[in-house]
Amino acid sequence: MVFDTKNLSEDKIYKLMISTIVPRPIAWISTVSKDGIYNIAPFSFYMGISSSPPLVAISIGKKDEKKKKDTWKNIEETGEFVINVVTYDLVEKMNITALPFDEEIDEFKEAELTPIQSDLVKAPRIKESPINIECKKYMILEIADMGLIFGEILRYHIDDSLLNEKGYVDNKKLKIVGRLGGADYCYISYENIFTLKRPDKR
Ligand SMILES: Cc1cc2nc3c(=O)[nH]c(=O)nc-3n(C[C@H](O)[C@H](O)[C@H](O)COP(=O)(O)O)c2cc1C
Repeated sequence: MVFDTKNLSEDKIYKLMISTIVPRPIAWISTVSKDGIYNIAPFSFYMGISSSPPLVAISIGKKDEKKKKDTWKNIEETGEFVINVVTYDLVEKMNITALPFDEEIDEFKEAELTPIQSDLVKAPRIKESPINIECKKYMILEIADMGLIFGEILRYHIDDSLLNEKGYVDNKKLKIVGRLGGADYCYISYENIFTLKRPDKR
């Protein structure tokens, strides 16, 4: 089959994109509004951009009524956010935080998650997640109907038990979740990890 995007509906294009850009990491973002209300939501149009400075990018859309999603609005207004890593045991709670709650609702309470203070930003961290990444807004580009949020990583909080002897996260030690097409997900499992050294580094 051949698909030309110019002949496809927006929905069909979206479904092709999310079933072919896989697996996608999930940035589970916690923020606080300028009025002090906590918010959490997952985003899988998410990638690393640069390590010097350490930058990530997340693409966030609008709500039905064309208002910016709460996460976008909070990052724009406060300049700060935390990316929390989703592990397999947290997927149900992550899914609750994807619901379109009113901006007045504290999503930590809705998903029964525990907010803990960050060190360098006002946005709270999610205690139940083993990796929290404190970020500050670097820039926001408005592209099509999306906000492409660039964040600079300021500090990592990583559960000690996950680090290997070199100080990196040992991916064999936790089931980090990725997003696939439709409502499908995957997680990293020990038996699916393989090592492939570059030919010039063997
Ligand atoms: C796994 C997952 C990934 C998602 N990825 C995105 C994304 O990349 N961009 C986006 O705008 N919405 C994404 N969503 C939908 C948002 O999480 C959802 O619209 C949420 O209600 C936004 O919350 P907020 O208004 O509190 O920011 C995703 C949802 C799920 C479950």
